[in-house]
Amino acid sequence: MKVMVIGGGGREHAVVKAIKKNKEVEEIFVLPGNGGIKADAACVDIGAKEIEKIAFFAKEHAIDYAIVTPDDPLVLGAVDELERIGVPCFGPNKRAAIIEGSKAFAKELMKKYGIPTAKYEIFTDESSAIEYIKEQKFPVVIKADGLALGKGVIIAKDEKEAVSAIKSMMEDKIFGESGAKIVVEEYLEGPEVSVLSFTDGKTVKPMASSMDHKRALDGDEGPNTGGMGTIAPNPYYTEEIAERCMKEIFLPTVDAMNKEGRTFKGCLYFGLMITKDGPKVIEYNCRFGDPETQVVLPLLESDLFTVMRAVTNGTLDKTEVKFSNKHAACVIMASEGYPKAYEKGYEITFDDDIDAEVYVAGAKDVGGKLLTNGGRVLGVTAVADTLENALSAAYRNVKKIHFQNAYYRKDIGKKALLFEEK
Ligand code: AMP
Ligand code: GLY
Repeated sequence: MKVMVIGGGGREHAVVKAIKKNKEVEEIFVLPGNGGIKADAACVDIGAKEIEKIAFFAKEHAIDYAIVTPDDPLVLGAVDELERIGVPCFGPNKRAAIIEGSKAFAKELMKKYGIPTAKYEIFTDESSAIEYIKEQKFPVVIKADGLALGKGVIIAKDEKEAVSAIKSMMEDKIFGESGAKIVVEEYLEGPEVSVLSFTDGKTVKPMASSMDHKRALDGDEGPNTGGMGTIAPNPYYTEEIAERCMKEIFLPTVDAMNKEGRTFKGCLYFGLMITKDGPKVIEYNCRFGDPETQVVLPLLESDLFTVMRAVTNGTLDKTEVKFSNKHAACVIMASEGYPKAYEKGYEITFDDDIDAEVYVAGAKDVGGKLLTNGGRVLGVTAVADTLENALSAAYRNVKKIHFQNAYYRKDIGKKALLFEEK
């Protein structure tokens, strides 16, 4: 089969490496891919948001199956367009992708169907939002409605910060049209857990839980990034919590989407906070997380491509989705300065004795040399019997990869290890 993967980050590299294991997969095209993915699949210079060009490519190359992983093309309707021309896809259509595309939609859905989440109000008018803020407890959370590269959330510690956050979104439009509508919500406390799940709209099969490290600097300091490292499974996600999540959150969400005529098929990502009142939804994503995928897929013992096709065909109930009971850790190597300004174009070199997976995100191939070309450059994933060993193996391998201005967090997994010791 000829398979097309849309996207070009570390997540897509992990997906490509996993589907390559299936013998039915003969050829893989990644649009646009990157200089590192090139070692594993053909990369095609078409952007993930160029839906017409993607569809044209699929037709021209008689693509048998498409995997759409980033949020933008999903929310823009890439799956609808590909299905229209007869290409089966992994990923939700536009009507279902709105669960990530509009935070206001997600909040209204949870309210309507009694799915636990933070209390909130939605505003399209600045002065009403500011009025509302005056009666709230602080900190308070202010979110732009639409996609904002994972950065559309501001936690304001007092009224002054809250008013300035509202103005920056609604007046100064720092997140563009994404901030025309905002959600103001209650601040929740507790450990965060990410649970990616496969669903065909009937059955939900959760993957191994994971923990992201969103802040740029050690000790959870500095600005929010796309994610600086991950571990799986997440020790806070106990069996008891998992059972509650299935009953109170996962199944009700899938049912709610069906009832709304927005059946979700693909990877539904639950961003959860384990509060003292139980698990609550912080956010939904309509796709695999990055870098969560880079720790979750290495633990998947079942064949990813088989599972994906079962999701598409609606036969997930008959398909085994099995995870190993090992631990995985991924450390992101970034360009110094990310998520703000950073330099690129530096050569990346690898020692010969690397014994971990390297998933390349921001790099380009220039005449056979791999050069840095993004904020998050690559992720190093190691799998071991314990979290501690997975972390030390990942960090050991990070030291074997070299480029100028390389930056990585030194404390990935530290919080999880402390919890495990308790
Ligand atoms: P999101 O883009 O919705 O994942 O939000 C980014 C980050 O902001 C989350 O990973 C949380 O750490 C934090 N966050 C979002 N909503 C809340 C909330 N209601 N209470 C506390 N922290 C939150
Ligand atoms: N790492 C968070 C996300 O993919 O949304």
